[in-house]
Amino acid sequence: MTPARRIGRLLGWPLRRALDPRVRWTVHEIDARLGSEDLVRPTIHDRLDDLDRIGRETLAALGWREGRALDALDAPRAAFLNWASGPEGYAAQAGAWFNPPVPVEHHPGRVEILLVNERIVEQPFVFGALAGLAEGAHVIDVGGSESTVGLSLAALGHEVTLVDPRAHPLAHPRLRHAACRLDELDTPAQLFDAAVVLSAVEHFGLEHYGVGGSDERLDVAALVRLRELVAPGGQLVLTVPFGAPSVDAFQRVYDEAGLAELLTGWRIETSLRVGRTDRHTWELGAPSREGHGVALVTARNAGR
Ligand SMILES: C[S@@+](CC[C@H](N)C(=O)[O-])C[C@H]1O[C@@H](n2cnc3c(N)ncnc32)[C@H](O)[C@@H]1O
Repeated sequence: MTPARRIGRLLGWPLRRALDPRVRWTVHEIDARLGSEDLVRPTIHDRLDDLDRIGRETLAALGWREGRALDALDAPRAAFLNWASGPEGYAAQAGAWFNPPVPVEHHPGRVEILLVNERIVEQPFVFGALAGLAEGAHVIDVGGSESTVGLSLAALGHEVTLVDPRAHPLAHPRLRHAACRLDELDTPAQLFDAAVVLSAVEHFGLEHYGVGGSDERLDVAALVRLRELVAPGGQLVLTVPFGAPSVDAFQRVYDEAGLAELLTGWRIETSLRVGRTDRHTWELGAPSREGHGVALVTARNAGR
């Protein structure tokens, strides 16, 4: 590059930055957080400084000091962080907790991986199974609160209906939240091309989520109902706990017979078992040594 061109590029840099839409989006985002949309400020750096200052002041009020190291994390704060970031914490109460595949646990002076849960295999399985769907396909995500899967599918170009009576705060122009149980959902004008049932039906009709439903086998009923909601030949992606059969107030665990009952009328295409062999390790085909296993199934609606 000639020196004249280099100088020209250098002088043009502020203009190019000013025109870059990402700069504008970032400024809007920061202003929204600061509540300072109406203030006139010269540069993005002032806004970033403000954000930083407010964050530090807030943390200082809670007893945090500049440069505080991990080894200063004490037991009460560790306990608070565990609660606040968990399924009962503030985010969860606000309906904004998304079950992480790898939750961490705070201890005095250290942070550890608590465990690796079944989402580590379930989510990639769903995306892999739906990879061949045409853009704009209609997908129903059953029991999809607490999950970012519906949002991912919408962002990938699909028309997603997420059915879950509990709050779902994520928004996208192609993501619709039907805040009801599956058995309360009206049949849409256009049937779905695919249904995602990720770690959901094992809870249906049981106490834990407090969303009601009188039929104690609302899990079986859900798969029957989905055969009416999914077009003939349409796809089902189902994941459920797999192992020695059981049922309690939280969930059911299915064995081969239970899974077959659930999948009546569906033509199975893929059926995998993944077992958790210790708190951090999931293995395809492994029997679960800890009572934690998962069945991953794709099937087609065989029609009537
Ligand atoms: C384990 S959670 C969320 C699973 C979610 N798909 C994920 O990937 O993390 C199960 C969800 O099923 C929802 N649920 C319970 N009964 C339901 C029903 N009859 N119809 C639809 N959703 C239901 C609960 O509200 C809860 O959000």
